[in-house]
Amino acid sequence: MCGIVGYIGGRQAVSIIMDGLKRLEYRGYDSAGIAVFDDTQTISVRRASGKLRNLEEALRQNPTDGNFGIGHTRWATHGRPTEENAHPHRDSKGNLVVVHNGIVENYLVLRHGLQARGHVFLSETDTEIIAHLVEDAFTGNLEEAVRAALAQIQGVLAIAIISRLDPNKIVAARQGPPVVIGLGEDEYFVASDVPAILSHTRDMFFLADGDMAILTASGVTLTDFVGNPVTRSVSRILWDPIMAEKGGYKHFMQKEIYEQPRSTRDTMLGRLGAESGRAFLDEVLISPEQMRGFRQIRIVACGTSWHAALAGKFLIEKLARVPVEVDYGSEFRYRDPILGPDTLTIVISQSGETADTLAAQREAKSKGSPTLAICNVIGSMITREAAGMLMTHAGPEIGVASTKAFTSQLTALFVLALYLGQERGTLTEAQVRAQIEEALKIPGKMEQILASEVIYQNLARSLHKAKDFLYLGRGIHFPIALEGALKLKEISYIHAEGYPAGEMKHGPNALIDENLPVVILAAYDPDDAESRLRYEKTVSNIQEVKARSGIVVAISNEGDKEIAEMADYVIPIPVTSEMLLPLLEIIPMQLLAYHIAVRLGCDVDQPRNLAKSVTVE
Ligand code: M6R
Repeated sequence: MCGIVGYIGGRQAVSIIMDGLKRLEYRGYDSAGIAVFDDTQTISVRRASGKLRNLEEALRQNPTDGNFGIGHTRWATHGRPTEENAHPHRDSKGNLVVVHNGIVENYLVLRHGLQARGHVFLSETDTEIIAHLVEDAFTGNLEEAVRAALAQIQGVLAIAIISRLDPNKIVAARQGPPVVIGLGEDEYFVASDVPAILSHTRDMFFLADGDMAILTASGVTLTDFVGNPVTRSVSRILWDPIMAEKGGYKHFMQKEIYEQPRSTRDTMLGRLGAESGRAFLDEVLISPEQMRGFRQIRIVACGTSWHAALAGKFLIEKLARVPVEVDYGSEFRYRDPILGPDTLTIVISQSGETADTLAAQREAKSKGSPTLAICNVIGSMITREAAGMLMTHAGPEIGVASTKAFTSQLTALFVLALYLGQERGTLTEAQVRAQIEEALKIPGKMEQILASEVIYQNLARSLHKAKDFLYLGRGIHFPIALEGALKLKEISYIHAEGYPAGEMKHGPNALIDENLPVVILAAYDPDDAESRLRYEKTVSNIQEVKARSGIVVAISNEGDKEIAEMADYVIPIPVTSEMLLPLLEIIPMQLLAYHIAVRLGCDVDQPRNLAKSVTVE
């Protein structure tokens, strides 16, 4: 995530950039910074950790201004959320500064190379490398040096750079995260998102991947990364400012649902090697030897993160053959759990601040168990107290109902399970490679599901009056059924229960009548015998629900005629492997809950009685 803003023109840049950063704070808020080319012909930088108001205070105490500059609000991926790690980052001599949104995947290799050539680094970030690479390549023209630097970088990036040695221009580039260029009268803007600059201009265009923009006070030049000219058509943006902050979506939750292809891709980035066919977890700080040595794994979490934990049990046991137990954070420390140094305790939390999960983590540590945090907020309590960290790169999640954080947690757990399987030798090289190939297709398949929102609007119209819902799944799909039910109850206030499909006969069948919608997870991997067997059992469940006049909503493979004939409503999803299906099948359930809640007029982003982070017991 992270937000970048830049301005060049006749006005003073600081207030314009600060105003833009405020509107981008939803993209990250652990530190912020600004740099302008000032009256003394140098680049003055102000930075502060924490929220933007701290940067405002720093500027109040030590003002600066100029006619062009860049700013940044950070969501940490590499390095703690400190002032030293806040952007903009500078080169060795302070001649140029850069702001960056994204991840430099090969940053370790590049950093070692630069250090060997005498570069000294002042931060722990991957971004600082970009400044040093540009410094190395600079011979008088900033855009040429940026091109030379970009040629060495692997990863995703949106950047803006200014230099005192080639002043009066901002060079911006995109490979992945969004960059929008705003066109004013003799003034130009660059930003991560429309709301940052909407109060100054409505005429904008987005850079495409591989585009570079050179902004001066008299215009914008566009090229590709090699220097060939490119053109992009300008749009007039008619959104109102509030709508713009939500990226044109009605609610943050809806926006976050639609961000899942991006957040999933980012969470895989640098961890699943398409060419090498290997999983990498160099950053977790727990050595491969230790990873190989654990005899059991505990996973502790609350709410949606607990559902991810339960899915993690299936993933790790299946792929790495290590026994896994899953606990609620709120229960863990009250039952004197049996664990020690041979147990890895994984704590999962979007916020990293959930009191019960934190207390469970402390309990595990007190018993000598090393803890690994799967978390979305670097620098949060849980990450600070963990021996190792596996960050989910979902970016800030504003809606109280967790969506993209959940799929990012599932993705991180999949990578971890695959890595453990690879390191412990429970998977062959070919199996690891096949899983990686399939995983890398998931963001594209998510996009396919997200393309047809009308299905959920129609379903919501038919089902929003139901008083109760059941969600059924078997195996790894059971935790996903739980999560589907939680999404519906927390935002629409309709009672919903998730159940293991095979348990229906042992009681819940009594609930079924013609008024009860039953959402059944019936997608499967046709190439996997176990998955096919589960599918056959699920088909029997559908028949049992139909025999009792229940309303079946089946989430099934696209083209599955058998299910289409039995179910009242079918939501088709693309085929994938059994262990990756959860990443796809949760999306229809999120959208169904969302559209039902909208239809019922509920406060989707801030449901009653709930808070985003539960920091008390
Ligand atoms: O920040 P955490 O992941 O630790 O939060 C845990 C739960 O409070 C959270 O998942 C909650 O259940 C969500 N509202 C569910 O959408």
